[in-house]
Amino acid sequence: MVSIQDQIVLITGASSGIGSACAQSFAQAGTQLILAARRLDRLEELAAELKQQFNTQSYLLALDVCDRSHVKTSLDALPAAWKQIDILINNAGLSRGLDKLQEGNIQDWEEMIDTNIKGLLYVTREIVPGMVSRGNGQVINMGSIAGHQTYPGGNVYCATKAAVRALSEGLKMDLLGTPVRVCSVDPGMVETAFSQVRFHGDAARAAQVYQGVTPLSPEDIADIVLFCATRPPHVNISDVVVFPTDQASATLVHVEVRVGVIFPFHQEPQSSSVNQKILGFESLGRASHTLMTQLSILQDAEPN
Ligand SMILES: NC(=O)c1ccc[n+]([C@@H]2O[C@H](COP(=O)([O-])OP(=O)(O)OC[C@H]3O[C@@H](n4cnc5c(N)ncnc54)[C@H](OP(=O)(O)O)[C@@H]3O)[C@@H](O)[C@H]2O)c1
Repeated sequence: MVSIQDQIVLITGASSGIGSACAQSFAQAGTQLILAARRLDRLEELAAELKQQFNTQSYLLALDVCDRSHVKTSLDALPAAWKQIDILINNAGLSRGLDKLQEGNIQDWEEMIDTNIKGLLYVTREIVPGMVSRGNGQVINMGSIAGHQTYPGGNVYCATKAAVRALSEGLKMDLLGTPVRVCSVDPGMVETAFSQVRFHGDAARAAQVYQGVTPLSPEDIADIVLFCATRPPHVNISDVVVFPTDQASATLVHVEVRVGVIFPFHQEPQSSSVNQKILGFESLGRASHTLMTQLSILQDAEPN
């Protein structure tokens, strides 16, 4: 593990979830942080916490990554002491809706494309030339398994994350011959505000996504991002695909289903030889989204 003490790390989307957890782990590693997101109040809270816990120096940027000219002016205007960014974590991103493409909300599409693809490009374009000219730097993009596997209703979100994957690969090729590294971290299901944002604030629907599953935590992802950033300069972790143990692919999730059945009730014998009971039980059954639960019908052969 290489020390990244005192390095300058820019994290986009630091106000919540994975970005906020990355801020914690990079603060603990002794870096100085440029925290960017639209919600400045949340960045202020986070910066105060990190100052108290780790004595971290933070520079806050109220930034909408979709706003190209604002990205340029605010990064150009960084004070000299903060300009030499060593690590860029392109994490800001979102999903909107889970509609079939033919029924999709075009405003949702624009928001995902503008944030996940164009926003990432605008920030990268501003920061990477300095890394090349200084001969030092690392870009870590937050991809997703959605960039590897498309799922029903995921159409445009999946397309944006496939684009992030292509951009990570392309940037790595274009930087070949320089010491600047490019890494993509591609998680499966992580419990953050992601689903609330996807469902436009419908907290009940968002909570259902994680019911019965042990998802990844934002801290799990931050650990991986920190691991990638602390390899020796000749090692580039190119792509990390990470699932919760309860998830095997974008569409196959193992769910703990609590099947609470209030009876026992006792069916009268249907035949002379078998006394058939449907027994009430309280159990943690294992099932998957695709299989759904089955009630166990216990056949209890009793002598008549
Ligand atoms: N959660 C998952 O299951 C999962 C899985 C795979 C990949 N990911 C990816 O992980 C990244 C982080 O998501 P999360 O799960 O941590 O969700 P989250 O808790 O909703 O965090 C999203 C972050 O992105 C920021 N953001 C969104 N739009 C922005 C914009 N226009 N300009 C600047 N910042 C913006 C938000 O900040 P403001 O609202 O304050 O601007 C927030 O800090 C995203 O790229 C997401 O696609 C998530």
